[in-house]
Amino acid sequence: MTNRRKFIAQAILGGLGLSVGQQGKAASRWPISGLASEPAVISTWNNVAANRKAWKVLKKGGRALDAVEQGVRVAEANPEDMSVGYGGRPDRDGKVTLDACIMDEEGNCGSVCFLQDIKHPISVARLVMEKTPHVMLAGEGALQFALENGFERENLLTEDARKSWEEWKKESHYQPVINIENHDTIGMLAIGQDGNLSGACTTSGAAFKMHGRVGDSPIIGAGLYVDNEVGGAVATGLGEAVIKTAGSFLVVELMRQGMSPQAACEEAVRRITRKQKGYEDFQVAFLAINREGKAGAYSIHKGFMYALSRQGGHEVVDAGHFI
Ligand code: GLY
Repeated sequence: MTNRRKFIAQAILGGLGLSVGQQGKAASRWPISGLASEPAVISTWNNVAANRKAWKVLKKGGRALDAVEQGVRVAEANPEDMSVGYGGRPDRDGKVTLDACIMDEEGNCGSVCFLQDIKHPISVARLVMEKTPHVMLAGEGALQFALENGFERENLLTEDARKSWEEWKKESHYQPVINIENHDTIGMLAIGQDGNLSGACTTSGAAFKMHGRVGDSPIIGAGLYVDNEVGGAVATGLGEAVIKTAGSFLVVELMRQGMSPQAACEEAVRRITRKQKGYEDFQVAFLAINREGKAGAYSIHKGFMYALSRQGGHEVVDAGHFI
């Protein structure tokens, strides 16, 4: 993706407004009085197209769960996004393997990991949540479940991704590096007109990873966590570092204790920099929103940004950073 390091403000005034009637109706349906916020969508990086799709769902009064699923599917289908879904960079054996999870306002969640040949792992994750007594399906079992439920098997390795793998193979240097292009997981959180929160997270994981490696993105509490009474958080960056600190769960728990989303994201990053050696050489970022609709984001290194959509428009916001 281009322009990632540049601040981009794309307020599109007037194009997003909910009608007064819709707002009034929503306000009366908010379940926890005093905690209501307006509808909002936030997602990692500059995925404005994904936010727009999610916003359309919210604008019609749709569920936040539908919004985040529809939103991240935009990134999954985009071959130019080389860290998510179709067009994602393969592992070191040349296989595109995908991880995704989803969580709703009731704490229900579903997840798939090490899934191959299916373009929309987020929708498979949702079906795991809705149609099975389980939370997570992996590899062949996840694929079998997807095929049984009507998903089509597709080759996800695009020519560009194959070329970048061929290039990598020349040196085959296997070491996580600070490279935000390699970690472009889309994590999305939405608040619906009814005040309910949901989240989704999907990725092709670290480029040229070991075959079988699974990162944080399909792990509830690591790549994503939502608690409807508090807020939600998502993570991007080096999955191993996020898993070691149960990052998204940590951010939500810090918000539960009274921290703002910004302070919670900062503390979660500091937890990594205090406890994990070598943090100077990898990137991790957290993005959070609380029930009041306040957003926060923080990363180890400069370069992380997030897309924020509200009634007034869409904007891409640079996050603060530790180093
Ligand atoms: N955060 C994505 C991964 O490490 O796989």
